[in-house]
Amino acid sequence: MSTTRVLFVCLGNICRSPLAEAAFRRAASEAGLDVHVDSAGTANYHVGEMPDPRSIDEAGRHGIDITGYRGRQLVVQDFHEFDYIFGMDRSNMTNISRIQPEDGKAQVRMLLDIVRGSEGRELSDPWYGGEDNFRATWEDVTMAAEALVAILRDGHS
Ligand code: 4NP
Repeated sequence: MSTTRVLFVCLGNICRSPLAEAAFRRAASEAGLDVHVDSAGTANYHVGEMPDPRSIDEAGRHGIDITGYRGRQLVVQDFHEFDYIFGMDRSNMTNISRIQPEDGKAQVRMLLDIVRGSEGRELSDPWYGGEDNFRATWEDVTMAAEALVAILRDGHS
Protein backbone atom coordinates (compact mmCIF):
# COMPACT_ATOMS: atom_id res chain seq x y z
CA MET A 1 0.00 0.00 0.00
CA SER A 2 1.27 3.48 -0.78
CA THR A 3 1.97 6.16 1.77
CA THR A 4 -0.92 8.51 2.60
CA ARG A 5 0.23 12.11 2.88
CA VAL A 6 -1.58 14.35 5.37
CA LEU A 7 -1.03 18.08 5.98
CA PHE A 8 -2.56 20.03 8.87
CA VAL A 9 -2.90 23.78 8.36
CA CYS A 10 -3.64 26.67 10.74
CA LEU A 11 -2.74 30.35 10.68
CA GLY A 12 0.68 30.46 12.33
CA ASN A 13 1.79 26.79 12.36
CA ILE A 14 2.86 27.17 15.98
CA CYS A 15 -0.25 26.35 18.06
CA ARG A 16 -2.94 24.12 16.55
CA SER A 17 -1.46 22.42 13.48
CA PRO A 18 1.70 21.19 15.29
CA LEU A 19 -0.56 19.58 17.90
CA ALA A 20 -2.73 18.05 15.16
CA GLU A 21 0.44 16.74 13.51
CA ALA A 22 1.70 15.26 16.80
CA ALA A 23 -1.63 13.63 17.69
CA PHE A 24 -2.07 12.12 14.25
CA ARG A 25 1.54 10.92 14.04
CA ARG A 26 0.99 9.00 17.26
CA ALA A 27 -2.46 7.64 16.33
CA ALA A 28 -1.29 6.54 12.88
CA SER A 29 1.83 4.92 14.31
CA GLU A 30 -0.21 3.02 16.91
CA ALA A 31 -2.54 1.85 14.13
CA GLY A 32 0.40 0.80 11.96
CA LEU A 33 -0.63 3.09 9.11
CA ASP A 34 1.85 4.11 6.42
CA VAL A 35 1.61 7.90 6.50
CA HIS A 36 3.66 11.03 5.88
CA VAL A 37 2.51 13.84 8.18
CA ASP A 38 3.35 17.53 8.15
CA SER A 39 1.86 20.88 9.16
CA ALA A 40 1.96 24.42 7.80
CA GLY A 41 0.52 27.89 8.36
CA THR A 42 -1.30 30.08 5.88
CA ALA A 43 0.69 33.06 7.22
CA ASN A 44 4.43 33.54 7.19
CA TYR A 45 4.62 35.07 10.68
CA HIS A 46 6.43 32.17 12.33
CA VAL A 47 8.39 30.52 9.53
CA GLY A 48 11.40 28.67 10.93
CA GLU A 49 10.22 29.00 14.53
CA MET A 50 9.57 26.31 17.12
CA PRO A 51 5.97 25.69 18.18
CA ASP A 52 4.46 28.02 20.79
CA PRO A 53 5.80 27.10 24.26
CA ARG A 54 2.24 26.35 25.37
CA SER A 55 1.85 23.81 22.56
CA ILE A 56 5.24 22.31 23.43
CA ASP A 57 4.03 21.95 27.05
CA GLU A 58 0.70 20.43 26.00
CA ALA A 59 2.36 17.84 23.76
CA GLY A 60 4.83 17.16 26.57
CA ARG A 61 1.96 16.38 28.94
CA HIS A 62 1.13 13.55 26.54
CA GLY A 63 4.71 12.37 26.28
CA ILE A 64 5.37 13.84 22.84
CA ASP A 65 8.34 16.08 22.05
CA ILE A 66 7.52 18.63 19.33
CA THR A 67 10.53 20.89 19.90
CA GLY A 68 11.99 19.69 16.61
CA TYR A 69 9.03 21.02 14.60
CA ARG A 70 9.60 24.25 12.66
CA GLY A 71 7.02 26.62 11.23
CA ARG A 72 6.55 26.78 7.50
CA GLN A 73 4.07 28.44 5.18
CA LEU A 74 1.55 26.58 3.00
CA VAL A 75 2.65 26.56 -0.67
CA VAL A 76 0.86 25.65 -3.90
CA GLN A 77 3.03 22.54 -4.28
CA ASP A 78 1.40 21.13 -1.12
CA PHE A 79 -1.87 20.68 -3.02
CA HIS A 80 -0.04 18.43 -5.50
CA GLU A 81 1.96 16.47 -2.93
CA PHE A 82 -0.56 15.79 -0.16
CA ASP A 83 -3.63 13.54 -0.28
CA TYR A 84 -5.40 15.44 2.49
CA ILE A 85 -5.12 19.05 3.66
CA PHE A 86 -7.02 19.90 6.84
CA GLY A 87 -7.71 23.48 7.97
CA MET A 88 -8.70 24.24 11.55
CA ASP A 89 -11.28 27.01 11.17
CA ARG A 90 -13.25 28.84 8.51
CA SER A 91 -10.69 31.60 8.22
CA ASN A 92 -8.01 28.96 7.50
CA MET A 93 -10.30 27.40 4.88
CA THR A 94 -10.71 30.77 3.14
CA ASN A 95 -6.96 31.36 3.18
CA ILE A 96 -6.28 27.83 1.91
CA SER A 97 -8.76 28.22 -0.95
CA ARG A 98 -7.05 31.45 -2.05
CA ILE A 99 -4.00 29.54 -3.24
CA GLN A 100 -5.65 26.18 -4.07
CA PRO A 101 -4.82 25.22 -7.68
CA GLU A 102 -7.59 23.71 -9.81
CA ASP A 103 -5.54 20.63 -10.60
CA GLY A 104 -4.38 19.83 -7.05
CA LYS A 105 -4.96 16.27 -5.86
CA ALA A 106 -5.45 17.04 -2.17
CA GLN A 107 -8.85 16.65 -0.56
CA VAL A 108 -9.27 19.88 1.43
CA ARG A 109 -11.51 19.79 4.51
CA MET A 110 -12.06 21.49 7.84
CA LEU A 111 -10.64 19.11 10.43
CA LEU A 112 -13.58 18.62 12.79
CA ASP A 113 -15.88 17.88 9.83
CA ILE A 114 -14.48 14.33 9.97
CA VAL A 115 -15.50 13.92 13.63
CA ARG A 116 -19.04 12.62 14.04
CA GLY A 117 -21.06 15.14 16.05
CA SER A 118 -18.54 17.96 15.49
CA GLU A 119 -19.24 18.62 11.80
CA GLY A 120 -19.11 22.33 11.08
CA ARG A 121 -17.39 23.15 14.37
CA GLU A 122 -14.22 25.22 14.18
CA LEU A 123 -11.08 24.18 16.02
CA SER A 124 -10.65 27.56 17.63
CA ASP A 125 -7.43 29.45 18.01
CA PRO A 126 -5.87 29.07 21.51
CA TRP A 127 -3.30 31.84 20.81
CA TYR A 128 -5.06 34.41 23.03
CA GLY A 129 -6.08 31.80 25.58
CA GLY A 130 -4.42 29.95 28.41
CA GLU A 131 -3.48 26.41 29.29
CA ASP A 132 -7.15 25.34 29.32
CA ASN A 133 -7.47 26.37 25.69
CA PHE A 134 -4.43 24.31 24.73
CA ARG A 135 -5.90 21.33 26.58
CA ALA A 136 -9.12 21.77 24.61
CA THR A 137 -7.10 21.95 21.39
CA TRP A 138 -5.41 18.68 22.31
CA GLU A 139 -8.77 17.01 22.93
CA ASP A 140 -10.06 18.19 19.56
CA VAL A 141 -7.00 17.17 17.55
CA THR A 142 -6.96 13.78 19.29
CA MET A 143 -10.59 13.12 18.33
CA ALA A 144 -9.80 14.14 14.78
CA ALA A 145 -6.68 11.96 14.69
CA GLU A 146 -8.73 8.93 15.75
CA ALA A 147 -11.41 9.71 13.17
CA LEU A 148 -8.78 10.03 10.44
CA VAL A 149 -7.18 6.73 11.42
CA ALA A 150 -10.61 5.08 11.12
CA ILE A 151 -11.18 6.67 7.71
CA LEU A 152 -7.80 5.54 6.37
CA ARG A 153 -8.08 2.08 7.88
CA ASP A 154 -11.76 1.30 7.35
CA GLY A 155 -12.84 3.84 4.72
CA HIS A 156 -15.07 5.67 7.20
CA SER A 157 -14.97 7.08 10.75
P1 4NP B 1 -2.09 28.88 15.20
O1 4NP B 1 -2.20 30.07 16.27
O2 4NP B 1 -2.72 29.41 13.93
O3 4NP B 1 -2.92 27.81 15.83
O4 4NP B 1 -0.64 28.55 15.06
C1 4NP B 1 -1.71 31.35 16.01
C2 4NP B 1 -0.35 31.58 16.03
C3 4NP B 1 0.13 32.85 15.81
C4 4NP B 1 -0.73 33.88 15.56
C5 4NP B 1 -2.10 33.64 15.52
C6 4NP B 1 -2.58 32.38 15.75
N1 4NP B 1 -0.24 35.19 15.34
O5 4NP B 1 -1.05 36.11 15.18
O6 4NP B 1 1.00 35.37 15.28
